[in-house]
Amino acid sequence: MRLLAIETSCDETSAAVIVDGRAASTVVSSQIKIHAEYGGVVPELATREHLRNLQPVVRETLRRANLEPGKLDAIAATRGPGLPPALMVGWKAAQSMAYALNCPLMSVNHVQGHLYSPWFTGEPPVADWGRFQPNLSLIVSGGHSLLVHVTAPLDHQILGSTLDDAAGECFDKIAKQLGLGYPGGPEVDRLARGGNPSVYSFARPMLNQPNDDFSFSGLKTSVRYFLEKNPELAADNARLPDLCASAQAAIVEVLVKKTIRAAKRERVRCLTLSGGVACNSELRKQLQVVCDKNAFTLRLASPDLCTDNAAMIGLLAEKQFAEGIEPEPIGADIQPGMALTKRL
Ligand code: KG4
Ligand code: ZN
Repeated sequence: MRLLAIETSCDETSAAVIVDGRAASTVVSSQIKIHAEYGGVVPELATREHLRNLQPVVRETLRRANLEPGKLDAIAATRGPGLPPALMVGWKAAQSMAYALNCPLMSVNHVQGHLYSPWFTGEPPVADWGRFQPNLSLIVSGGHSLLVHVTAPLDHQILGSTLDDAAGECFDKIAKQLGLGYPGGPEVDRLARGGNPSVYSFARPMLNQPNDDFSFSGLKTSVRYFLEKNPELAADNARLPDLCASAQAAIVEVLVKKTIRAAKRERVRCLTLSGGVACNSELRKQLQVVCDKNAFTLRLASPDLCTDNAAMIGLLAEKQFAEGIEPEPIGADIQPGMALTKRL
């Protein structure tokens, strides 16, 4: 099967060509530099950039795969969740192509793309469904923090989610308080490598509550109060590594402990990690440590597939198609609030 996938749910314009379970080409055009000036994603600017970039991105993706549009068997696109005007650009383009080429239009849930990305391995990524194991999946991005029990490919159930800020949002807001650029997660990660996580002690929200939910706004506030009380620390660049390492340790400890606890309770022996925050080196390391200790398998999404990309959308769309999930009617609309349902 030859499928073209499009992803425009937030600030990455991306397309991928999938050929028989393999991402033959993927192009990602990131808007990070444009939004950095504003300290966060500006939906109007994101939409304008998607409109400007989508056509060249699709053309380049097809060129790299050496494929004419007429040879495509299906089109797939992210239908939600995401920023409505940004989603609209990719979804409408996919609809138009499916209509013009008279081929099926597959709708993909963006969060499901992240959820299954640890099963897309290698360079270029190939779907590795053959090695699928029931698992407990932690999805942590700028918009989501979810614990999901995945019993079979495309069969999953949400156990917990964040009650307020997502883990990535928490990284970004703490970074802003420390005067670092946007997105702050990678900067906090980088600085933390040279710091001591035990120097400052920040809140571990909901760590000991008997549920699978997260809350990160309290941690962000605890860092803010601390900096207000100790303004000399915030102004001292030499303290940044210890501050970053200490704040990061609080986020990582909550994520790792709640994930492993849920895995034991659900009696699964495999953990997966995905989403933008899955790039975090300490989170990857700590999850590996607990998995080794408990003899669990750990599948980490590869860094290229952690941040938003169309390869994960296309590889999942192909699986949906193979499993008999119906294509969408050509006039179907976007679903900005699309939930990560048990089964699409
Ligand atoms: O998945 P993603 O690209 O977009 C969403 O769907 O939200 O995730 C972006 C988020 C941002 O909050 C960014 O700061 C965070 O992922 N992030 C990181 C790291 N790399 C990206 N957070 C912590 N450590 C990192 N290395
Ligand atoms: Zn995402």
